[in-house]
Amino acid sequence: MLPARLFQFASLALFLILASSAGEEPSSTPGASGRAIFVKNCSVCHRGGGEGTRHVPPLNGSEWVQGDDRTLARILLRGLEGPIDVGGREFISPLKMPAFSQLSDEEIATVISYVRSFPKNGGAPVDARIVTAERSALVAELGSHYAERRWTAPELVERRTRDASLFRRLRRLIFG
Ligand code: HEC
Repeated sequence: MLPARLFQFASLALFLILASSAGEEPSSTPGASGRAIFVKNCSVCHRGGGEGTRHVPPLNGSEWVQGDDRTLARILLRGLEGPIDVGGREFISPLKMPAFSQLSDEEIATVISYVRSFPKNGGAPVDARIVTAERSALVAELGSHYAERRWTAPELVERRTRDASLFRRLRRLIFG
């Protein structure tokens, strides 16, 4: 098995373990430090309440923020290049969503957990171990310069579909 494939399985296995231990105290919680990371890194584009602008999509009431943990972690690790649909609107921005690979796993988990706590969002805090697993999978697949090229929205959707089919295969493998 190729190492990249192995890491995809490893990150999925970790995700399953974390999902089954839901209810335990997450290793990161939104709050004061989440706000500080957000103000320093995100609010210049997404605005202080995550409401976005004409060109930058909102984080408050975003299906991407409320969606699966792994996709959200991927967006932060590698950045994103539009066009992208958010809240029923298509955004084609002259600004591009930068990669935040320089932040630690803990910081990324803290800031996305903070963004999830915005009034129009739902979703549980993200565990830093999810970010660790996604970063390791990207390094295995693309090398340490994984953040040199940004994701596109269709690539992220394709990954999510692949996660789901790996999940089904793994479940068949375990439960027959
Ligand atoms: C330089 C401006 C800029 C900064 C800084 C920035 N973003 Fe973005 N972000 C964008 C743009 C623009 C998009 C839409 C995709 C594109 O066109 O590149 C986006 C898309 C997103 C998305 C997916 C779409 C959505 O609206 O939910 C998320 C999640 C996100 N950003 C989170 C963050 C977080 C968290 C931070 C801070 C750690 C951050 N962004 C910092 C510009 C920025």
